[in-house]
Amino acid sequence: MQDNEQIDIGTQYLDEEESMLLDRIAARKKELGDKVLLLSHHYQQDSVFDFADRVGDSLKLAKNAAQAQDRPYIVFCGVHFMAESADILTSGNQAVILPDLGAGCSMADMATSDGVSQAWAELTEVTGSARIIPMTYVNSSARLKAFVGHRGGSVCTSSNAERVLTWALEKGDKVFFFPDEHLGRNSAHALGIDPDEVALWVRDEPLGGNSPEQLKKAKVILWDGYCTVHMQFSEEQINTLRREEPETKIIVHPECRREVVMGADQYGSTEMIIQAVSNSPAGSSWAVGTEINLVKRLAKQHPDKKIRSLSPVDCKCSTMYRVNPAHLLWVLDNLAAGKVVNQITVEKEIAALAKISLDRMLEI
Ligand code: 13P
Ligand code: SF4
Repeated sequence: MQDNEQIDIGTQYLDEEESMLLDRIAARKKELGDKVLLLSHHYQQDSVFDFADRVGDSLKLAKNAAQAQDRPYIVFCGVHFMAESADILTSGNQAVILPDLGAGCSMADMATSDGVSQAWAELTEVTGSARIIPMTYVNSSARLKAFVGHRGGSVCTSSNAERVLTWALEKGDKVFFFPDEHLGRNSAHALGIDPDEVALWVRDEPLGGNSPEQLKKAKVILWDGYCTVHMQFSEEQINTLRREEPETKIIVHPECRREVVMGADQYGSTEMIIQAVSNSPAGSSWAVGTEINLVKRLAKQHPDKKIRSLSPVDCKCSTMYRVNPAHLLWVLDNLAAGKVVNQITVEKEIAALAKISLDRMLEI
């Protein structure tokens, strides 16, 4: 996943008090001015998020990066695949920086390009003349996006997955979707596709654990990846809440299992969750099935509403959490000293093919 391993940034950052770090970040940001654009995903901790010039879900941040041609440095407070997409969509004279190279996405790591290439070869062989469209969730490596771009497919995010799946099914006979089983299954269900026509490709099993007939019949074939954060939300939590607090509305991210999404009142990307909760009337009560930093921020921003996690335990994205004030200050200090650290650079040939699949998504 990483371009390089994260180096030790030293005790002058790691042992510094948080209030000092925050003061120093504010000063550095002011000094660097328009040279830097700081992007933050909604799952970032507040001490980082509060410094962002733009905040958003994966789609919005990808668009922000593409539009920021005047900023030489993009500091991406998110995870590795997001910074890669930003590098692909920005021009060659801009540098995209990820404050901690250990900030990956465990779901993205569940689909390697070798694994998907092998599965693709098996799938195309067994399904004969059927036209298969590959489709990758944006939570994937640039190599996989390139694989998809090269074969006429598209990227999607949680906010446009249903639209992109519709497009893909109009274009071909079948869709091979990776890496998130649940986003794929929820999108197929929303389009009314018969569950019998949705197959699961289990990694490392011959034909993904399917018979040739199952694969021939399937309209959508799903890779068996998942998000460990969103797997913590369950149908039991929904049932308990419905019993104890019938007035509470439940909203979840489509990376949750199908029964969770079906049991919720609403589902959507992080941006959609924010809009739904923010636009609800004062006094509303919400249980939210997504990462805890976002849920806590919503609760803080709307003291007139009752907002908390659907889960009784905090569901935190531990890799997002690696981007902290110490690492943010470290990259800004280096920029002020004329040095770019932790630049995310996607190889030229990979970037060109990956851009095809990202541009296709932006067009659809
Ligand atoms: P969004 O695109 O909804 O922000 O989701 C990204 C993500 O990684 C969710 O786990
Ligand atoms: Fe990846 Fe899940 Fe974290 Fe999103 S919340 S970045 S899918 S591990």
